[in-house]
Amino acid sequence: MVSSVFVIGNWKMNGSTALANEFSQGIDELGSSVAAQIEVALCVPATLLRAFDSPKIRVGAQNISEHDSGAYTGELSADLLKEQSCDLVIVGHSERRHLFGESSEDVARKAAKALANGFTPIVCVGETEADREQGKTFDVVGSQLAAIQNELSAEVLEKIYIAYEPVWAIGTGKTASPEQAQEVHAWIREQLGKAGAEIPLLYGGSVKASNAEQLFQQRDIDGGLIGGASLELNEFINICRAAETVIQNRV
Ligand code: PGA
Repeated sequence: MVSSVFVIGNWKMNGSTALANEFSQGIDELGSSVAAQIEVALCVPATLLRAFDSPKIRVGAQNISEHDSGAYTGELSADLLKEQSCDLVIVGHSERRHLFGESSEDVARKAAKALANGFTPIVCVGETEADREQGKTFDVVGSQLAAIQNELSAEVLEKIYIAYEPVWAIGTGKTASPEQAQEVHAWIREQLGKAGAEIPLLYGGSVKASNAEQLFQQRDIDGGLIGGASLELNEFINICRAAETVIQNRV
């Protein structure tokens, strides 16, 4: 069973060294409960991977090449990311799928490459608004998941994190309701079979301090992948506090 709550920021193509310093200090000053039961991570632009200085922040990248090295201008390999002391990476974010044409098979190969190099991949899945309106949510999410399940052996599958991020909720302020998110999360957990019990399932899409607690208290929501609200320290700390409240209410 997944017992921690995961609060993972995705800075996308934002942030700065100054902001990284502000977060290092701010997160460091949080109570000790944060380190113990809440996994706080920030997935940041590659140039900021070494900008953090807090043992409470796990730092992650936002993309990884499926190749080991070679003529892939602009790409970053697992070895290059490892040199930045990074062991977490987002793969298949909807912006990578939609703006950069990554297929589910590409995403699955990236997840496999990440795992083979000791990274935890946060695999993103999610339907568009049109998919949802046409009743295709489970087909779309199911085929994104199937690509991952086909590529990864059962033994490594349980080492991934999954983020369910409905595309219509990303950066739009339109959060999925806790019930909508829970419904898809429970379904994903079921599709994953035995590994499902071990895999943290994060919700992403307009998570903020005001809705985090309600989302995180759902049975199959183990935390959030947070975009816009992860760029403001107080807002992000309040999301960590919401995670803390959820943990306290469990016992
Ligand atoms: P958002 O982004 O929180 O700004 O909606 C989430 C994400 O894209 O990971």
